[in-house]
Amino acid sequence: MRQRAVKSREEIIKNCEAWIIKEPRACRGHWREAFPAPRPVCLEIGSGKGRFICEMAEKHPEYDFLACEGGTNISIRILQKAAERQIQNLRLISEYIIKASEYFEDGELEGIFINFCDPWPKARHAHRRLTHRLMLEEYKRVVRPGGCIAFKTDNDELFDFSLGEFEACGLVPARLTRDLHSSPWAEENVMTEYEEKFSGAGKTINYAYIELP
Ligand SMILES: C[S@@+](CC[C@H](N)C(=O)[O-])C[C@H]1O[C@@H](n2cnc3c(N)ncnc32)[C@H](O)[C@@H]1O
Repeated sequence: MRQRAVKSREEIIKNCEAWIIKEPRACRGHWREAFPAPRPVCLEIGSGKGRFICEMAEKHPEYDFLACEGGTNISIRILQKAAERQIQNLRLISEYIIKASEYFEDGELEGIFINFCDPWPKARHAHRRLTHRLMLEEYKRVVRPGGCIAFKTDNDELFDFSLGEFEACGLVPARLTRDLHSSPWAEENVMTEYEEKFSGAGKTINYAYIELP
């Protein structure tokens, strides 16, 4: 059983090679060349099974999209979606990004999406949260002035923490709601797998959208 799972994983990777960025650090400063028709590049960190990033790429052909997912068994699902739907403006980084500036030059990205990231509830793990100020300082470097950082979570404590971190980094949300699905931005919202699960269970979704100065 186990052997068959490994084989099918290898097969999927082989069939989806065109969507995989094999040496993402080497693309630093040249990301537009990783796509067939270069356009401004948006990144999602922690894409999970890829519902959000695939739909965003299909909905916005005027941008290129990078899915970043460190869990290799999960990132396979992104590849399958991208290949099945032949999404040309999407590529996968199958690594955990910790220091964004090792992957991207200053101002190289149009925007960063962080959706339902792991909350790391223990205080001693706070530095691992994707909205920790050390991470935010990295995002501020690699996103162009006027670009965006967008954040969604079901976790109220993580959202409160993140708002404090935004403030500490001089980032002021242009859009802020604790109930995204009842907000003016509901119509344009693209759901993630976790978002569907939590909102289906009755949880309201927190959302902050920041435009970089
Ligand atoms: C809770 S899941 C949410 C998945 C998806 N965004 C959603 O909303 O359905 C968080 C995902 O982020 C991935 N992840 C966490 N830290 C990461 C990092 N630094 N770089 C890449 N992926 C990361 C995890 O492997 C996990 O699959």
